[in-house]
Amino acid sequence: ERNTAIVLAAGQGKRMHSKIQKQFLEIDHRPVLYYSLECFQKSPLIQEIILVTGEEMISYCKREIVERYHFTKVTKVIAGGKERYDSVYQGLLACEDCDYVFIHDGARPFITEEILERGIFGVQETGACAVGMPSKDTIKIADKDGFIQSTPDRSQVWSIQTPQIFAYPLIRSAHESLRAKDMSGVTDDAMVVEQEKGTKIRLVEGSYQNIKITTPEDLDVAETFLKKYKKM
Ligand code: CTP
Ligand code: MG
Repeated sequence: ERNTAIVLAAGQGKRMHSKIQKQFLEIDHRPVLYYSLECFQKSPLIQEIILVTGEEMISYCKREIVERYHFTKVTKVIAGGKERYDSVYQGLLACEDCDYVFIHDGARPFITEEILERGIFGVQETGACAVGMPSKDTIKIADKDGFIQSTPDRSQVWSIQTPQIFAYPLIRSAHESLRAKDMSGVTDDAMVVEQEKGTKIRLVEGSYQNIKITTPEDLDVAETFLKKYKKM
């Protein structure tokens, strides 16, 4: 079995309002992107890592991240696209000869080997698996005027994280057929499979620490998590 991680780091990070893209901001003297790459590098489940970044960041990533930290599993550093799904698609095109792909946000530094293990276990069943956690908040569906429309049953509501893990032919063909139609509104890869295939997607637990660095306050939370991990 040959498994590839596609790590996404081609976003602009608009909601962070920082000059440096959030995946390159440092927490404890290392870029956010370092931490998830480290987990994939160390994991016996992963043979290859494809890093997707902005065209202008490719040489920086090669020199300051891949070479500097000896991420020997990173075989390709490639340019992403305008939307997240474009970056994923570029990553999928760059994959050669793999059974399962782990698609992961480079802005989520706190994945662990246990999460990868649950993911590889979960994907065996149908070829599609997403990591997430039961929602702590009650979720409301709003109408266009800002009034509450309905409340989904909280026991059935999950917050979805990455990695999302797929059999390679399944996710590649799902992306290809949805791209030929309409990708608008697609925010994750499970959605691509939901819209394009009948395949059931297994949900497995990620962790409440597996946050995506999105807005400035997430950096404070990340510092706290990192300090705690290091003491453990
Ligand atoms: N991403 C990417 N290519 C894009 C857009 C996003 O590789 N065209 C990546 C981001 O770098 C991030 C992950 O997808 O690791 C999740 O996306 P998100 O949190 O939305 O990051 P950004 O798009 O960078 O942030 P924002 O939406 O606030 O601009
Ligand atoms: Mg975005």
